[in-house]
Amino acid sequence: MYKSVLRPLLFKFDPEFMHNLSLKGFNILGQFFLLRELLSALMRKSEPCLHFHYQNLVFPNLVGLAAGYDKNGMLVPAAERLGFGFIEIGSVTALQSRGNPKSRLFRFPNNFALVNRMGLNNDGAKRVSKALARKKRYLHIPLLINIAKSNHPKISKQLAIYDYCYSFRRLYPLADLLVINISCPNVKGGKTFENPDILENLLFHLEKTRASIKKDMNLKTLPPILLKIGSNVSDRQLEEILEITLKFELNGVVLANTFPTKLIKNVPLPQGGLSGRPIFNRVHHLIAHTAEYVNYDPNFLIIGVGGILSPTDAIKLLMAGAHLIEVFTGLVYAGPFLPKNINQRLASLCKKEKLKTANELLTFLHEIKR
Ligand SMILES: Cc1cc2nc3c(=O)[nH]c(=O)nc-3n(C[C@H](O)[C@H](O)[C@H](O)COP(=O)(O)O)c2cc1C
Repeated sequence: MYKSVLRPLLFKFDPEFMHNLSLKGFNILGQFFLLRELLSALMRKSEPCLHFHYQNLVFPNLVGLAAGYDKNGMLVPAAERLGFGFIEIGSVTALQSRGNPKSRLFRFPNNFALVNRMGLNNDGAKRVSKALARKKRYLHIPLLINIAKSNHPKISKQLAIYDYCYSFRRLYPLADLLVINISCPNVKGGKTFENPDILENLLFHLEKTRASIKKDMNLKTLPPILLKIGSNVSDRQLEEILEITLKFELNGVVLANTFPTKLIKNVPLPQGGLSGRPIFNRVHHLIAHTAEYVNYDPNFLIIGVGGILSPTDAIKLLMAGAHLIEVFTGLVYAGPFLPKNINQRLASLCKKEKLKTANELLTFLHEIKR
């Protein structure tokens, strides 16, 4: 029904217009009790065997909404009803930004792909944190907040580090898990943080900010922190980043961000970040390489994102070593029931193999791969 009737209709409209419309639509639905319950009945698959436990967090299922769909946390009240087990909002930056000039989002239906150069349009850390403080009580699934460097050419070098620290200080206390995006391909200077020296400097300052938040707020436990890495890193670069991630005792990685189209030769594509089916194999490789590098450590969280368009894709990334998965482009091509369809497949696998939780399911899937 979605693919044959709705999708062709929706694809007649501008991609960014449709994206904003879907955000507004789901946001409105999430505000009314009866509509929320209707959404829930239609789109949610709730089963104890899908529950995943990580530290003191419980994810009702393994499928999350990827960063970039909901930059400012509009969907926070509705996310659980849409079938997600968690939501990653952002990227949020210290400075509010309108992003790059339009047009900046393009569909490639024959390849099940998108190219975007949104340029980190978001309301800024101060406004987003205020809005989240109000909305968070409606959320019963883990909230991941993704922060990035402000999209401003003058913010570079040490100023860029302070820029991250500002967003961190504002948003870390509201997050169940904080994601540091070091890989935005659509802003000037965004990629420099994958350079080991600069990354170490960034993490050193964030660590200091974290310690001061802990002291100021008198906290006993602190939310886990993950790094979001680009899909174009080489194995060598990935290993260097993982080494630093382990050195600073971060809790894991999100693999991966979009692939810069400027690196693709002989294919005419607009400049920006490629997502969807064409990056799936790349992301699969990065996840498998990371899982082996950390020896399938269950405490080192790997979130797999990139080109998941079906339950089979989701299972492949989980088998490669991911613990959680996220979708974005798949929602555009496979439709909003994708999370439910993935969860239905995972739940039947649990039943077939007599597995009681998603943690057991992951051990089972990772064992097959090993
Ligand atoms: C329009 C668009 C905007 C995005 N914005 C962000 C962002 O602000 N921060 C981020 O970390 N990733 C962002 N992403 C990347 C996604 O989170 C995801 O890593 C990538 O799209 C690969 O997943 P997919 O193939 O399922 O879309 C964006 C992706 C798209 C398509």
